Amino acid sequence: MGKMRAAILTSSDSGYAGQREDLSGPAIRELLEKNGYEVVHMVVLPDDREMLAAEMARIADEGVAELLLTTGGTGFSPRDCMPEATADITERAVPGIPEAIRAYSMTITPRAMLSRAAAGIRRSTLIINLPGSPKAVRESLEYILPALEHGLEILTGAAGNCADNIPAIDDLPVYPV
Ligand code: MTE
Repeated sequence: MGKMRAAILTSSDSGYAGQREDLSGPAIRELLEKNGYEVVHMVVLPDDREMLAAEMARIADEGVAELLLTTGGTGFSPRDCMPEATADITERAVPGIPEAIRAYSMTITPRAMLSRAAAGIRRSTLIINLPGSPKAVRESLEYILPALEHGLEILTGAAGNCADNIPAIDDLPVYPV
């Protein structure tokens, strides 16, 4: 089958205002392309719940991409609202992915528990929040990418069911702790 299409949404007031270069969006792009995804859309928006929700809904409703990764806006700062914007527009929650990211990230830094990241599905698009720093983005994405492909195949109807070929936990990549 063809390449999965991905979109990247950065939530950053200073990035949107042009006061700070967005390094996390490009870090996501690099990792996705290395793993065979086609990045079809990248956008930086302010930490504005309605603007973020509207753009995520548009990407799903117009079928722009099967995977939408967001970065930033998952912490405790008063303007951080990415998980709320994501919950506003997703139809089905996908808690396991942020749970896995936080569990793995806790082996790197105890501050991983400060990410409120969420994930969910709208139509045929899987939306996953990642934290804001390029370091956190790389660590999170490297960990979930091996399992994502199968989820996207099920979501888009490219794979029938999970019963065949479930990788044993021993077959999954082992990351240094
Ligand atoms: N996860 C990983 N893997 N590595 C990190 O360095 N930083 C944490 C956390 N998750 C971090 C991480 C920190 S310091 C914060 S405040 C939260 O993500 C939220 O980040 P955000 O507000 O930039 O989205």
